[in-house]
Amino acid sequence: MMGFSAAARRALLRLSVLCARPRTLPAARAGPELRPRRNLNVQATSSKAGKLKSIDDLPGPSLSTTLYWLFVKGYADKSHLLQGVQRRLYGPIWRSRFGPFDIVNVATPELIALVIQQEGRYPRRADLSHWQEYLDLRGLAYGLHVSPGPEWYRIRSALNPKMLKLQEVPAYAPIINQVVGDLLHRVEFLRSRSQDQATVSDMAAELYKFGFEAVSSILFETRLGCLQEEIPRDTLRFIAAVNTMLTVSDTVLLFPHWSRGVLPFWKRFVQAWDDLYGVAQTLIDRRIAEMDAQVSCGEPVEGMYLAYLLSSNTLSRTEVNITVTELLLGGVDTTSNTLSWALYHLARDRRAQDRLSTEVNSVCPDRREPTTDDLSRMPYLKAVIKETLRLYPVVPGNGRVSSENEVVLGNYWFPKGTQFHLCHYSACHDEAEFVDAELFVPERWLRSEAPGSVCGRAAPNFYQHHPYSFIPFGVGVRACVGRRVAEMEMYLALSRLMQHYEVQPEPGAPVVEPKTRTLLIPAKPIALRFLPRA
Ligand code: HEM
Repeated sequence: MMGFSAAARRALLRLSVLCARPRTLPAARAGPELRPRRNLNVQATSSKAGKLKSIDDLPGPSLSTTLYWLFVKGYADKSHLLQGVQRRLYGPIWRSRFGPFDIVNVATPELIALVIQQEGRYPRRADLSHWQEYLDLRGLAYGLHVSPGPEWYRIRSALNPKMLKLQEVPAYAPIINQVVGDLLHRVEFLRSRSQDQATVSDMAAELYKFGFEAVSSILFETRLGCLQEEIPRDTLRFIAAVNTMLTVSDTVLLFPHWSRGVLPFWKRFVQAWDDLYGVAQTLIDRRIAEMDAQVSCGEPVEGMYLAYLLSSNTLSRTEVNITVTELLLGGVDTTSNTLSWALYHLARDRRAQDRLSTEVNSVCPDRREPTTDDLSRMPYLKAVIKETLRLYPVVPGNGRVSSENEVVLGNYWFPKGTQFHLCHYSACHDEAEFVDAELFVPERWLRSEAPGSVCGRAAPNFYQHHPYSFIPFGVGVRACVGRRVAEMEMYLALSRLMQHYEVQPEPGAPVVEPKTRTLLIPAKPIALRFLPRA
């Protein structure tokens, strides 16, 4: 039970702030040249620097070549594919310079592992000076994305316990199941309104609302009604702002400061952030007012994540505001796009869909709502999500700025402050890591059942990928804070959709390719037919 007078806050739920613990992955498969060095002895490294090659020795495209690739060859919104093209041209490590960017790209799992292993105690992802400028402009506190080193760690340590701990996350299953219930109603409503009484014409758009409602339900333990017939205006405003912000984010960084008064990008970026922050603040204020009212009536206030953050006394109120905004932002188009792609492939792969629905129905007969225990008995469901994330990693290229250490990669030495681009898309589409890498084959994640397996042993190399060739949520202390929640959301939504519907593509539906808009998203709407199962 929690109250929200200052005294009650201090007294109740003074949860100890746990340190973020890195997920353990098997040691990287490193060759003799690529040996991991976690805590580099910087002095020793510096003395080696003279003997090693430097960033200037790296191959890479000139500015004009990059412009050609982006704007003539059309890779501006296909930067995930450009990773593979450049890897073939320049090898596994290359340099790109473009506007203010000077980046070292690494595209093998061994090199990605090496960068991560040298990331230090407080890993930094990328230059987000424009996010920081926005916060400064509005006099707002820094959140996870912008806070430096120990400050980031303090915020992150406050978030982790109730977001990432395996014992804590199942507590959110009942409310997520309610949101999934709304999603099912929404699908039913849309299909019944469609011309053929079966089609939902833009599945991703519906799932954005689902993602927003799901994260809000955990943060605020309240239902916003994002999947009702009448969508709340603020929900649409938030979703539109996510789209704008992510679309113009890189462009804002690219153009010099002086252009901000002339070009529209900075203005749009600021407006989008105003909307994101404004909607989050309205929701927080509303919920705090409700909690205060509950407390003054002597009613218990418990369970929700916002209450936990406020009562932990680790974050200031303005830090809570920005952090909640970031969590909402993280929740909108990550799970939703992954679910859209999963449904897209299941609709086209009858065998996989039958197998999944058989698994779900055998664990939860008669459309019983799955619990988290039930999910643990659905390996194929998890394999479908993994395979979807492998084909369409939401974050196709991640970043690390070596802010604490100099970094050694094979024969190369890089000074502190080097920006690395970790080419995840290229790594998880690499035939050397994944046989038939462009195909949707969930079985590759089921050890004993990989295609070609004999007596329970998979075909050689089928699943023997390097652990860093598939890290869709990142790895280490800076990995995705929403991972457990995201997985649970996706498992519950997909299993229940399978209980209720057979999913089919629209007749003559086009092939949908992904495109990059900071995150990897479908380039066209995904239309699906939902046919009720008997
Ligand atoms: C399919 C679902 C998702 C995927 C694949 C995904 C992936 C990622 C990745 C790759 C990162 C960067 C990790 C790193 O730098 O090592 C990240 C960070 C983050 N994610 Fe997620 N994410 C997902 C869902 C979510 C959800 C649902 C939330 C919110 C509840 C969320 C909140 C965040 C936040 C706040 C960060 C920044 C963490 C930090 O900087 O400390 N994500 N995510």
